[in-house]
Amino acid sequence: MKKWFAVIGDPIAHSKSPFMHNTWFHEMGIDATYIPIHVKSEQLEEAVAALKLLGASGWNVTIPHKESIIPLLDDIDPIAQKMGAVNTVVRLNDGSLKGYNTDGAGFVHALEEAVGKNKEKKVLMIGAGGASRGIAFALQQYGYEQIHIANRTVLKAEAIIQELGEGIALSLEQAEKQLNQYGIIIQATSLGLSTGENKLPISLDLLQEGTIVADIVYNPLMTPFLLEAEKRQAKIVTGLGMFIHQGAIAFNHWLGQYPNTEKMMEKLIEQLK
Ligand code: ATR
Repeated sequence: MKKWFAVIGDPIAHSKSPFMHNTWFHEMGIDATYIPIHVKSEQLEEAVAALKLLGASGWNVTIPHKESIIPLLDDIDPIAQKMGAVNTVVRLNDGSLKGYNTDGAGFVHALEEAVGKNKEKKVLMIGAGGASRGIAFALQQYGYEQIHIANRTVLKAEAIIQELGEGIALSLEQAEKQLNQYGIIIQATSLGLSTGENKLPISLDLLQEGTIVADIVYNPLMTPFLLEAEKRQAKIVTGLGMFIHQGAIAFNHWLGQYPNTEKMMEKLIEQLK
């Protein structure tokens, strides 16, 4: 029987997930389809019941439901539990629902696909919201040795560092002044979104040539932060890889196969141009 999958969120119309997963199904000869479903906060419980009733094999969860879906699931993977957020639901053979979080691991896979493993390099994460938290846990899990988190509200960076049990929290000003210490810099604030303000969270004046600079935003593909870093001869990692790999890891949870991420990168770059 044909399987079906979905992504639920609000807004959802501009999600690239349906294109990505449907392309992979087609390329890999899998008889399945993936649809976007607009679900408002107050409809989440009903939506989950409907997905279950109608036999969805799994779905992705995006803003604003990543936290609120947790009590509606039967089992949560320990990493998602730690992050307090789920972006992927799998319906197991017995009909129960298990939640995973593939965002953080998606970032690390994308980073390593783009520039290789650099676990010894000192990492500076800018931002301490939900996205930063997931990535920080994943970096630690994959063996990155030194993680510093800078945030406008330093207390939030301190809270993540405390949960990690290692690392340093700092202000944006401190991070700016010691920027040349870092081998990897990750822009994980909500600045840089196409609809957001057009400015940088920190100045890149002290950025060293060859530093790896990543952004979690992928639309625009080249954020103001990445454009500035590119001018200073940094190695750029766009947010698109994280998006693709979070989807690929979800796909693998559902179907036990890892889809082609490099070909997808080319296709999505074409679309975002
Ligand atoms: P997400 O879940 O996508 O990470 P979030 O939890 O709202 O989103 O977090 C947004 C991040 O962007 C936070 O680190 C926030 O800084 P504060 O914790 O100080 O609010 C950061 N951010 C948003 N607007 C910013 C701005 N104008 N300058 C600097 N940082 C900003």
